[in-house]
Amino acid sequence: MDFLISSAYQIEGGWDADGKGPSIWDNFTHTPGNIKNDETGDIACDSYNKADEDLYLLRALRVNSYRFSLSWPRIFPDGRNRSINTYGVNYYNRLIDGLLAQNITPMVTLFHWDLPQALQDIGGWLNPEMVELFDSYADFCFHTFGDRVKFWITFNEPIAISSLGYDLAVFPPNYKDDPGYALYKVTHIILKAHARAYHTYDQKYRATQKGVVSLSLNMDWVEPEPLNDPRNVEAADRYLQFMGGWFAHPIFKNGDYPDAMKWKVGNRSELQKLPSSRLPVFTEEEKEYIRGTADVFCLNYYTAKLIKHKTTKLRPFSYEDDQEKVLENDSSWPTSAIDNMRAVPWGLRRLLNWIKEEYGNPPIYITENGVGLKSKSEVDDTSKIFFYKTHIDEVLKAYNLDGVNLKGYVAWSFLDSFEWLNGYEARFGLHQVDFEKPSRPRTPRTSAIYYSEIIRQNGIPFHQGDSLSLFHLLASRTS
Ligand code: NOJ
Repeated sequence: MDFLISSAYQIEGGWDADGKGPSIWDNFTHTPGNIKNDETGDIACDSYNKADEDLYLLRALRVNSYRFSLSWPRIFPDGRNRSINTYGVNYYNRLIDGLLAQNITPMVTLFHWDLPQALQDIGGWLNPEMVELFDSYADFCFHTFGDRVKFWITFNEPIAISSLGYDLAVFPPNYKDDPGYALYKVTHIILKAHARAYHTYDQKYRATQKGVVSLSLNMDWVEPEPLNDPRNVEAADRYLQFMGGWFAHPIFKNGDYPDAMKWKVGNRSELQKLPSSRLPVFTEEEKEYIRGTADVFCLNYYTAKLIKHKTTKLRPFSYEDDQEKVLENDSSWPTSAIDNMRAVPWGLRRLLNWIKEEYGNPPIYITENGVGLKSKSEVDDTSKIFFYKTHIDEVLKAYNLDGVNLKGYVAWSFLDSFEWLNGYEARFGLHQVDFEKPSRPRTPRTSAIYYSEIIRQNGIPFHQGDSLSLFHLLASRTS
């Protein structure tokens, strides 16, 4: 299976069109100084008004699935289902129907960070009521779109919400109070909200709709440096537990946080002379409720880092200090354009193997993988082609040689789009978008042609006409 992907706030625009309510990202980007060049998602790729063109481009690429997200405040302007906005609902109905008419399977994310402002006003993800409110939104979406949508992702990269929103405080709501506590409380609530929506699907929709439900977790690979010191290997494992295991261990293992996290945060809390651990505790009933609430494992992968064991200081109560320290990246690894992220294809193979071992060989979808380039005019993007070729090659090795139970691969992304704090600077699209022109024209990059060739040949194209059959193999395993 081959896919393409986008997310609502990053491409739709129409930020206040047809009764849509404001999200925390609308308000955040409207405040000068928050985003590079003060850019906003007000218009973005204007996909709210250009669904037909997007569908045409998707068809030209011959993808068989498209992952996108729903904007919660476009559907419920004030976050609650007393405020249903039929224009918003119809926009998604048209998009879903348009995809199906072209045999493209929709893969839908319920929450890709654009929380209705009205729900932030009652405390956002720190408020336990959010479990109920998210469930009511998810229930509405399953009920309304689930006759046609068979793949649901509840949360995209939830660590970005807790860590970037409530610890580093660079994402809205930029919450700085309660450092070292808030992010753990937020994750605790998100895990319950995810589980609740999963059970709703199970109880009310699964029998008739027959879909799958999961969440997308982002993980970096970490390579111990030097490798021959077992403390570095342990530090690397702890890092993976803090980044992915925080969510995956409760869901895919035993309903509870990883031991490494419980030990580390608990121990540090004790040294800080706190009455109890800053990491909250699940009751036995809650553990039982959360365990097993994902049908497949969804991974977003971008980069790898080196890691070395290090004793952290006990100053402020922060997640950063609970977490392992990463070293400078290996300078021999090529950089991608944004944030000096290194492109490390073999890290993806190792990470897939780690997930296979850690969680008992679950079916895995890579729900994001891609690279952002700086040059906006570059249509002939050899480096992006190189990125996809080398990463897909490592995915093939994981599948063919290591027996990883891989079910699908998603390229991030379909279009250049609003790249959060980086504004429009990082260009992830297989299609270039000209954000200076009001009509936001799209131009396929060479990488789009390359990707469609991968799809056409069911694998990486070779000059001799031979091909490695990633998608063919995946398709045959899935069917
Ligand atoms: C993570 C996010 O899910 C997506 O919104 C973002 O654009 C990409 N990775 C690239 O940074």
